[in-house]
This record gives sequence, structure tokens and C-alpha cells, in this order.
Amino acid sequence: MNLTDFEKQETPFYYYDLQLLDATLNAIREAVEDAPHFHVHYAVKACATPAVLKKIAQAGLGADCVSGGEILRAVENGFPASDIVYAGVGKTDREIRTALEHNIAAFNVESIPELEVINELASEMGRTARVAFRINPNVDAHTHEKITTGLNENKFGISMQDMIPAIRMAESLKHIDFIGLHFHIGSQITSFVPFAELCKCINQLTAALEAEDIMVRSINVGGGLGIDYDCPDEHPIPDFNGYFNTFKKHLKLRPGQELHFELGRAVVAQCGQLVSRVVYVKHGLQKHFAIIDAGMTDLVRPAMYGSFHKPVNLSAEARGEQATDQYDIVGPICESSDVFVKDYTLPLTRRGDIILLKSAGAYGEIMASQYNCRKLPGSIAE
Ligand SMILES: Cc1ncc(COP(=O)(O)O)c(C=O)c1O
Repeated sequence: MNLTDFEKQETPFYYYDLQLLDATLNAIREAVEDAPHFHVHYAVKACATPAVLKKIAQAGLGADCVSGGEILRAVENGFPASDIVYAGVGKTDREIRTALEHNIAAFNVESIPELEVINELASEMGRTARVAFRINPNVDAHTHEKITTGLNENKFGISMQDMIPAIRMAESLKHIDFIGLHFHIGSQITSFVPFAELCKCINQLTAALEAEDIMVRSINVGGGLGIDYDCPDEHPIPDFNGYFNTFKKHLKLRPGQELHFELGRAVVAQCGQLVSRVVYVKHGLQKHFAIIDAGMTDLVRPAMYGSFHKPVNLSAEARGEQATDQYDIVGPICESSDVFVKDYTLPLTRRGDIILLKSAGAYGEIMASQYNCRKLPGSIAE
């Protein structure tokens, strides 16, 4: 779509570039081609827009879900249940039943009480649940504090000390099949060092388990690979070779062991943009404000984590204007945190201009809300 096409649409809406998604999926496929024991799942939480999910399912990725709703959405959009893994600290009975009905690949279990409930419900339904324990490896992902998950202070997973008793318990339960270990240390990780540290930690854990005669069939290292929010046009596809090579190099897999990944952001972030229109340009005492029709209800990440989505004024670029003036780009929501970026240099901006907020495919549309009784943003994928 170009500027003229954007201008014809009601804004705000998400625009997904399926060609870029294809190229990203190809890059993933090529990076794991020589590693048949690598299984890549897509973390549905990042974006569950049907056209996007269908493309990812067609490319052969499995799904990583964190709710019963995500399991149903993944199945509806072509992911085989046998390639679905399911994490989450608060799985409800209804959600566990949904997962058991579909006979998903694995539950990533985060506590002993959860293990007991899964066993009980599986027994009622005459099923056996494959279970991996989510272990909290206490590895610092060096990312934003709100998206770090693998430290002892976080609510996720089971601590390393509790791992062996938890596995012993799983082995004693009739309707549980213990298959392995699951990890996820955080999101938007832009260095491979934390992943290499995770590998070291897993090597130690699997050695400790072997000494106890505990066989680990499956290791799941979660997601977390970051993207370049500052220069999306220069780096539209993350360095998947570097990422997967880190695991090829540092993780000591035993013969027959499977290695699973759960990438969300790295798969979809760059292919989505939020398309908005300037409603007013307001000249305050100290600042110029570009007030757009998209707000934190459409894209909450800047308000929630202070994250940056590169703004582009497509209309001003088409007029040939140079970037000259600084603007705070803000939304219409009645919250002072409804700010996309402060003091950003844009070309001379006018009412009606189309502004893109780039790299918004992950944790964008899916987190939209109706606060202020707003309509949810629409989406176009092509
Ligand atoms: C368990 C789990 N796996 C995978 C992901 C996907 O992470 P990312 O989008 O950073 O790849 C998340 C994100 O929060 C998660 O909680």
C-alpha cells in the first residue's frame, strides 16, 4: 500500500506487510535448515491477527500459547495441535481442559499446584498430559524490567532448587508424561550473550538431571530475540543466523533431544505498522504537538514500557518537506502518558497528514483496548 491507499482508509489501522513476513519466515527456515531437531514455535501473544497467523502456520512453525483462547485461535488458523505448547502461571481448569481436548504437544508447567490440577483433569478425561517444567534460570536478559522474566524475583517458573522434586512428583503421577524443561528469560534481547548464558545454565541442569537418571527429551528455550526499533528500514529482518548459531554452539544436546524455540516479536514486529492521521497540530508555549488519531488504546507499548516506534510523516515526505521541526507526537486519550514520542524532528506537519508508527506488528494490535469507549483499530494484511 502507498500513501494514496492509506489516505482512502479510515484511520487508525494496522497494516501488515505479508511479503516482509514471508521473507522473515524464509530467513528462519534457512537458519534452522541444517538442524532438524530444532522446532520453532510462534508466540501467538505477539500478534494473533488471522492473516498473519495463517501465513506463519503455512510456513510450518508451531504455536506457543498462553491461554485457552490462544490455543483455539491457533487451531482455527491452521496450527496443528500437535505443534502447540502452552505456558502461563494461571491456567484455569477450563483452559487446561481445552488443551487436553486438543491433545496439544506440551504444557509448560509453572508450579506444583498446576501440575496436580493437570493430572486430576487429565485423569477425569482419560488423557495423559505431556509436561515440561518452566524453570526460572535466574539469567539476566539485560532488557526492560517489565519484560525480563527469568530472574528469581519474577513470578514465572519453578526455581532451580525445586526442579528435581517437581520432576520426581511428575514421574509419580499417572496422567503426566514428563518430557523436559522450558525456559524464557525475557523479551527484546538484542545481545546473544544472555542466550549463551542460558545455554550454560541448561548444560549444568541437564548434567545434574542425568546424574539422577532423569531423561530430558525436550528442551524449550522460549523466545526473546529483539528487533531494531531505531532503524527498521535498515534491519527489517533480525539476525536469525546469529541467534540460532548461539544455541548450536553453546548448548550440549544429547542424541535424540529436541530443541524448541518460541519467537514472537522477532517474527512479526517489523512487518506491522500503525497507520494514523494528524487531527491537529497545536503550538504550545514550549512545544509543538502533532495530535494523531491513534492513541495508547491502539498501541500501548510507549505508555507501558517507554518504547519507541519510529514515526514517519508520509504526506510531508511526499510534499518534499525536509525534517525541520520538533514535535511531541501524542494521541487523543485522556491520559498524560498517551505520548508516542517527545521532541521528535519531523518535516513540517499539517492536519490530515498520514503518520506511520513503525515496527508495531508485535504486542501492538493484540494489546489494543476500548478505553475511552474507542473503537478497536482495524487491520489490513496484504
Ligand atoms: C513463555 C513465553 N514464550 C515466548 C514469548 C515470546 O517472546 P518474544 O516475543 O520476545 O520472542 C514470551 C513473551 O512474553 C513468553 O512469555
